[in-house]
Amino acid sequence: MRGAAFFFVGVAALELAACDASSNRTHTDYPDEQSEAFNVYARNCSECHAPPLPSAHPAEEWPNVIARMQQHLVHRSMAPIAVADILVLREYLETHAAGK
Ligand code: HEC
Repeated sequence: MRGAAFFFVGVAALELAACDASSNRTHTDYPDEQSEAFNVYARNCSECHAPPLPSAHPAEEWPNVIARMQQHLVHRSMAPIAVADILVLREYLETHAAGK
């Protein structure tokens, strides 16, 4: 159990570092910026950090990332992402994912 916790912290630190590298940008062109799906994405994924580009992950990885973000919300006692919104932002991320 302890080992697992340390492993998780290590992975989180690595990923934070990866996230930092891209957070210096002033403006980023997200795909479909005019769409309702983008609004849902921007609303749900900009509370803690700048929303990453959908190309940050291949489509098959996005559901796990979203699930982890949901845990971050719960840990901080913030309102979880609504199920209807999860479906919309999952579709948005997977449509524009890396390798598409
Ligand atoms: C409650 C705060 C919070 C919200 C809301 C949030 N994130 Fe995060 N996000 C974090 C934290 C903390 C990290 C660093 C630790 C980690 O990777 O889990 C992170 C890291 C990331 C990373 C970099 C790590 C990786 O796996 O590539 C991505 C991508 C990401 N978030 C995507 C999203 C998306 C997509 C949403 C909307 C569904 C979202 N985040 C909403 C807190 C949040």
